Amino acid sequence: PDLVYSVAIDGPAGAGKSTVARIIADRLNLTYVDTGAMYRAITLKALEKGALMTEEIINIAENCSIEIKKGRIYLDGRDVTEEIRKPSVDEKVSKVACIPQVRQRLVKLQREMAKDCGVVMDGRDIGTTVLPDAKYKFYLTADIKVRAKRRYDEMLKKGIKTDLKKVEEELAERDRQDRERECSPLKAAEDAIIIDTTDKTLDEVVDEILSHIKRREKNVL
Ligand code: CDP
Ligand code: CDP
Repeated sequence: PDLVYSVAIDGPAGAGKSTVARIIADRLNLTYVDTGAMYRAITLKALEKGALMTEEIINIAENCSIEIKKGRIYLDGRDVTEEIRKPSVDEKVSKVACIPQVRQRLVKLQREMAKDCGVVMDGRDIGTTVLPDAKYKFYLTADIKVRAKRRYDEMLKKGIKTDLKKVEEELAERDRQDRERECSPLKAAEDAIIIDTTDKTLDEVVDEILSHIKRREKNVL
């Protein structure tokens, strides 16, 4: 019965997109779609199959099944929610994501996911390419040092030992590839609201986004 509208959240790695998007979706009773997880799933399958050639990766992207259900991601029916976060996927995902045919397949799936229900979708090209007509668009950024520290703290919490410098280099390299690729690169849509989260807490970012939405949606508490 709720009004169907979509919220696009884009930005570089570690800006807080997925954490914020999940909370916003919950508060607004919309479906959360993590598009990064979809690029990660294809990358995982390519690694498992030892696919190195672009043609092989395209073939995987065009023929695998990807589903998102209750916050879990399934690749060919297998739950890969945890596996897609491993460092080998981090390292390769931006290379897979710059292949136009891979993007074409995933953008199609993403649009289907948003067709009949309101979504909060996070990624790199949601406001510019996937849902150019989204009612609300936000672009989250933060200083690279702060983003690296957030990612580093997350890894420590999970018990993964790493080096802050290495995490920063990995993020910076992925950002560079995401910004410089030809096919729908990472950039803010012209009509996106830009939020620099460097000195903000999660709650502050969530409140800022919700207050923008509340101005236009009467039924938001
Ligand atoms: O969580 P994190 O910010 O590290 O990355 P992610 O959102 O899981 O996305 C992983 C990678 O997938 C990005 O670095 C991009 O290369 C790619 N991606 C993309 O190209 N387009 C999207 N809409 C989402 C992710
Ligand atoms: O999805 P994206 O890569 O943009 O970021 P994320 O996976 O949501 O990771 C952000 C991490 O920084 C999470 O552990 C958050 O708790 C934390 N954080 C944040 O997202 N926003 C802030 N303003 C402060 C901290």
